[in-house]
Amino acid sequence: MSDWQTLLQQVEDCTLCPLYQGATHKVPGQGDPNAPLMIIGEGPGQVEDEEGLAFVGPAGQLLTRMLSAINLPRDRVYICNIVKCRPPQNRVPTEEEAAACKTHLREQFRLVRPKLILLLGSTAARQTIGPEIRITRDRGTFFCKAGVLMLPTYHPSALLRDPAKKREAWEDMKALRSKLMELGLYEDIYGPYENE
Ligand code: URA
Repeated sequence: MSDWQTLLQQVEDCTLCPLYQGATHKVPGQGDPNAPLMIIGEGPGQVEDEEGLAFVGPAGQLLTRMLSAINLPRDRVYICNIVKCRPPQNRVPTEEEAAACKTHLREQFRLVRPKLILLLGSTAARQTIGPEIRITRDRGTFFCKAGVLMLPTYHPSALLRDPAKKREAWEDMKALRSKLMELGLYEDIYGPYENE
């Protein structure tokens, strides 16, 4: 079995925390396994739980629009969540659930080896950068962790609840685009599509 098949099987068989009991489908994540950009959200919502895919509900549709606004085709990035099973009523995952599920996230990180990570919302940012992160204060700032640049921004669900935040989120997407360009990665993602 390839490393990816092993990872998917481990997520499928996972009972490391109680969330698996309520899951219709596990949601490991999807996208380009060689993407220079990884996007991490919080955990599957209702539609994701039904379909087994990350960010395919209303927040996911907004995420797709945010990425296309900076010309990033969604299938050229790798998208996943802190937890792979839907928490009841979409509550925030507990520390124990997030810690257990990091076994899988670490493996995804090892396999994708992204150069840049976009962190959607407080849970993703605090679980990867550190508990000191405050999303309203720290969004839009690049953090370097384990040799990888990480950019926290608002979760698309927060933008759906409070459209006034969209202006700042747009600034963050532009900062992401500039950083990808500065690192020579923008063409990595977009280039092959331009030539089709
Ligand atoms: N919210 C998330 O954090 N992740 C998803 O996959 C969907 C909604």
